[in-house]
Amino acid sequence: MKALVLAGGTGSRLRPITHTAAKQLVPVANKPVLFYGIESIVEAGITDIGVIVGDTAAEIRAALGDGTRFGARVTYLHQERPLGLAHAVSVARDWLGEDDFVMYLGDNFIVGGITGFVESFRKRRPTAGLLLTTVDNPGAFGVAELGPDGEVARLEEKPSAPRSNLALVGVYFFTSAVHTAVAGLNLSARGELEITEAIQRLIDEGRTVRATTITGYWKDTGNVHDMLEVNRSVLEMLEQAVEGEADEASHIIGRVRIERGARVERSRIVGPAIIGAGTVVRDSRVGPFTSIDEDCTIDRSEVESSIILQGASIVGAGRIEDSLIGRSVRITGSDEAPHGHRLVLGDHSQIRIAA
Ligand code: DAU
Repeated sequence: MKALVLAGGTGSRLRPITHTAAKQLVPVANKPVLFYGIESIVEAGITDIGVIVGDTAAEIRAALGDGTRFGARVTYLHQERPLGLAHAVSVARDWLGEDDFVMYLGDNFIVGGITGFVESFRKRRPTAGLLLTTVDNPGAFGVAELGPDGEVARLEEKPSAPRSNLALVGVYFFTSAVHTAVAGLNLSARGELEITEAIQRLIDEGRTVRATTITGYWKDTGNVHDMLEVNRSVLEMLEQAVEGEADEASHIIGRVRIERGARVERSRIVGPAIIGAGTVVRDSRVGPFTSIDEDCTIDRSEVESSIILQGASIVGAGRIEDSLIGRSVRITGSDEAPHGHRLVLGDHSQIRIAA
């Protein structure tokens, strides 16, 4: 069995972070979200991994390499344009051959991994296997309607009038029968080749499409709110480790990870929180539920429930909460009059200022 991981696409809902970076590489507890997916695939015993890449190919390649660090063999498959999940399957057609495969959307996050689902697919081997979960906003997802015996009767992609609250989780299992269904697709109204339509074809042909409803924690990290929530849930499981330095005037409370080479001076860190290598926290309060990546500076500021990416500096900035701050961003407070805000923000930035 192989794995096809989708790490192309545009990530428009995570702009401006995704103007310069792949959305699948935004870190959760200082580890790219994509790594959690790859690790769970390898944990399930699948080591032959095809990764679909698009405009951000160079960055994804730099992060994953040849897969050795995960105990896997990674093959990159280039998708010219993000023309849909089924299009990605067609790009991978030759590489997949006649093998069964799991398709994993690179921005999805599933606590507890996929080992059990892989095992049950291997054992029962339906034509396709889906994972579903109940959501409050089904219109934002692929939605499944189940028949009287729990079989999948109908699928619709982001319907305006959802027929159920069962959303498709971004992990799919397929036998090679899916390729014929994909080959027969036309572009949908939104200009994509939809995997939901390909699976609907399999259902209409009378093939077995099984669904398992998962109750564990799952998130599509496609937007900032969900990203922060995943960060919270991963930090909940954090183990305490102070490998960097914290001076005697600092208070480290609860489960806090201070990575090697990080320095905490005259500050209060409340877990769960993680401070990346090379980061300096001075005269500040950090946490809870905060991930600060490598080489950041937090000085005379408070940061809570946030993700701060590599190289950012927050100095004399007051209190920052529920925020996603991009790489090398500089936020500086000023006591000088006039008290106007001076901003240099990228396209699609969002900021809320305490007026
Ligand atoms: O997260 C679950 C949802 O994922 C499902 O409920 C939906 O049925 C499914 O269509 C998908 O919806 P999204 O709108 O979240 O898909 P998105 O465009 O964000 O793409 C998911 C991942 O696949 C993302 O990591 C980017 C990658 N991708 C996407 C497209 C359209 C590609 O690599 N190539 C593509 O052509």
